[in-house]
Amino acid sequence: MAGKITLTMIKPDAVRNGHIGNILADINNAGFKIKAMKLTQLSTADAESFYSVHKERPFFRDLVDFMTSGPIVAAVLEKDNAIEDFRKLIGATNPPEAAEGTIRKKYAVSIDANAIHGSDSDENAQIEAAFHFAGRDFYNY
Ligand code: RTP
Ligand code: MG
Repeated sequence: MAGKITLTMIKPDAVRNGHIGNILADINNAGFKIKAMKLTQLSTADAESFYSVHKERPFFRDLVDFMTSGPIVAAVLEKDNAIEDFRKLIGATNPPEAAEGTIRKKYAVSIDANAIHGSDSDENAQIEAAFHFAGRDFYNY
């Protein structure tokens, strides 16, 4: 599946603010197929592990605190060129810099509460998908 999947998380702010349905509609309308999906909440250890690449960064504690602050929706999405196309759909990390029409432009609150995660490489998509899901959680349809 390399090159065809990305892992997303609808972050706690967007879940709290009632945006799950609208964000999933945007994702489907952009041509992504949902292969696996669940509502879940990250523990501190989960978030530290998921974002371990950022552990030396000044924003790491804030990132972990925010990502554990409430439930998220985790999903594996399939599309040709999934990583790049999904990063385009979600927009820049900092919402004021996100392009018009992107998910972060429409639904994000701040650089921490920025509504949604998208994998940044094919390799990380595989790792992140395996972090959240087991083989039996994936569906073909
Ligand atoms: P994500 O991993 O959540 O999809 O976000 P991203 O690729 O757009 O950004 P990344 O560089 O991976 O950073 C992960 C999350 O850390 C927070 N952040 N804060 N204060 C800052 O300068 C800063 N930089 C990053 C953001 O919440 C970002 O989504
Ligand atoms: Mg990232």
